[in-house]
Amino acid sequence: MNKVERLMQSMTLEEKLGQLNLVTAGRMITGPTVGGDATEDIRAGRVGGVFNLWGREAVANAQRLAVEETRLGVPLLFGLDILHGHRTIFPIPIAEAGIFDPLIWERTARAAALEAACEGINMTFAPMLDIARDPRWGRIAEGPGEDPFLGAKFAEAKIRGFQGGDLSQRTSIAAVAKHFCAYGAAPAGRDYAAVDISDRSLHETYLPPFVAAVAAGCAAIMTAFNSVNGAPMTSNRALVRDFLRGKLGFDGVIISDYTAIAELIEHGVAGDLVEAAALALKAGVDMDMVSGAYLRCLPEALSRGFVDLGDIDAAVDRVLRLKQRLGLFDDPYRFASETEQDKQASRELALETARRAITLLVNRGVLPLANELRHVAVIGPLANARADMLGPWSAVGAAQNCVTILEGLVAALPRADIRFHEGVSIAGDDAEGIAPACAVAREAEVVILCLGESASMSGEAACRATPGLPGRQRELAEAVLATGAAVVAVIASGRPLTAPWLVERARATVAMWFLGDMAGRAIADVLTGRINPSGRLAVTWPHDVGQVPIFYASRSTGRPPDADDPFTSRYLDLPTAPLFSFGHGLSYSRVELTNLRVDRNEFHAGENIEVTADATNAGKMATEETIFLFIRDRVAIVARPIMELKAWAKAMLAPGETKTVAFALSSDSFSFPGEDFAPVIEPGEFDILVGLNAERANLLSVRVLFRDSAGDA
Ligand code: BGC
Repeated sequence: MNKVERLMQSMTLEEKLGQLNLVTAGRMITGPTVGGDATEDIRAGRVGGVFNLWGREAVANAQRLAVEETRLGVPLLFGLDILHGHRTIFPIPIAEAGIFDPLIWERTARAAALEAACEGINMTFAPMLDIARDPRWGRIAEGPGEDPFLGAKFAEAKIRGFQGGDLSQRTSIAAVAKHFCAYGAAPAGRDYAAVDISDRSLHETYLPPFVAAVAAGCAAIMTAFNSVNGAPMTSNRALVRDFLRGKLGFDGVIISDYTAIAELIEHGVAGDLVEAAALALKAGVDMDMVSGAYLRCLPEALSRGFVDLGDIDAAVDRVLRLKQRLGLFDDPYRFASETEQDKQASRELALETARRAITLLVNRGVLPLANELRHVAVIGPLANARADMLGPWSAVGAAQNCVTILEGLVAALPRADIRFHEGVSIAGDDAEGIAPACAVAREAEVVILCLGESASMSGEAACRATPGLPGRQRELAEAVLATGAAVVAVIASGRPLTAPWLVERARATVAMWFLGDMAGRAIADVLTGRINPSGRLAVTWPHDVGQVPIFYASRSTGRPPDADDPFTSRYLDLPTAPLFSFGHGLSYSRVELTNLRVDRNEFHAGENIEVTADATNAGKMATEETIFLFIRDRVAIVARPIMELKAWAKAMLAPGETKTVAFALSSDSFSFPGEDFAPVIEPGEFDILVGLNAERANLLSVRVLFRDSAGDA
């Protein structure tokens, strides 16, 4: 009999339920230990894991209670949300996704895991894998953007990074992929809202990152707050038990979101907490985050016959096996250690990631800033907003570690006279600073206008019905533009901000997102041309919120938009195209793509196709280019999206250099979820489209033919 089986045999019902109980230390910390009720609960074996508690002493104290003072000595899990860094803060995920580099995604997760593991964390509520196509939804900041293929690659890399090769290593932490599922499909971008969605959308768009996470061996999955087609995810048997456990074979731990089991009452599917607990357990949720419903109510659910002991045992078994995989039974005080070199390496990684996440949206010749600049104005409420650089989910990050935009520019332009004026606050109703800010602007050769959101305006419970510039920032921007100064708009935000008037009139616009600790250094490096920008949009950037949802992989209609024909799918008052497409992002070079070719025009199941194109750097700076490959299935039993991302490649190009970039597609790349959602490839023609972003008109294309084994096409 192994350790887990032995434990299962000796546990009382209460001890078993304790293993399913995940509590937060957030509201209970008394000094460096878990205090109050949690202490007694831990001692009594009524707690399986604690989150929001970190630091060697605090964690060791809590672990000691579990290991030394409980009857069976089962160690605790220690969880924390590590969305974009633990102590060293990296760019927010939507920005990091735009680097389109799985190695960077993995390295930042690895670095964060190491820092967290040094402080006793052994599980993180990340990666967040919610595909999001609505900038109103604040949590778009936390995830990989709008595309399922990108989301799947992001999932794999993050899980490799957090978990390493072996979970029992002290430097590995368990990844909890979240939020399963379709949380990002919240109607009108309102957090927690009920989602009504087709199975096709689920299988094509929202599930693929989770399918990838399971295949990558992720240790745990968190269910989402929302309901899907009337069934809350916390009690959704079809999606959690039948699909995730049954079809995908996921055997790791499933964790509810915060108080979500108790919220089943408010959802309107449970009459009381006993029913709520039973519904969640029956659906396959193993751990109860914060509701206390399992601990308090499963005994009664058992006696009412809503659940049986087998359901409870299966959940406990999964939690204990996770503890075993983490090596906690042998090494409950499992602290990693880091060297000064590791710390330095994290800072450098934060700088590299921040530089590469910056997305140059428009440049009308003003960037990079000229070397000889003498008078520079830095204006706006985000210019010196230290804490905001951290972004919405900054774990243990500290504002004092952040470099502001102003500080970055002062260091990067030592010979320039840099004048700063905030102008207005981020979201307040103050305008007195506008006139003095304009006076500063008038004396400068260039104005770096730093606008955007505060860190707390994106993330959870931070939805914005009108995701433009908050407060009186537009007034400030209009006044500064009216001075005639050359304006470089730098936008810090957790989402695409709709300010087309600004993009139109500024000489350049840069999306800097929330870049973390190294924000100011990274942005200064890009503005001064020390670094050639290479970030791309992981999400479509609309003109106006009225266009939302807007994403590149839409389906055609019988009447595609046609400027000359009013009876087509379009608006009277807005363009149908976005302001910037998925994948958009400029550099200080200009890359030209030519000569798209395939190694075969026809292929069969199981065969690969090699696609190549030539990329030439026609500019004067070395550049890192991301080249996207989409496919279009021209005729299929269910209409396919007009484009589907299937690969991307990177080319590092010296000025004047031409390189051939290659993409390897397997026949599976051409499959789609068929009528029963199992992957199928239909014989027939496909377009392969290659280009620098998802703007259809700029893509090169070539056609290939898929024949099934009978030779049909
Ligand atoms: C969020 C989760 C998070 C949890 C624990 C919830 O409010 O939705 O993403 O992991 O809190 O902090």
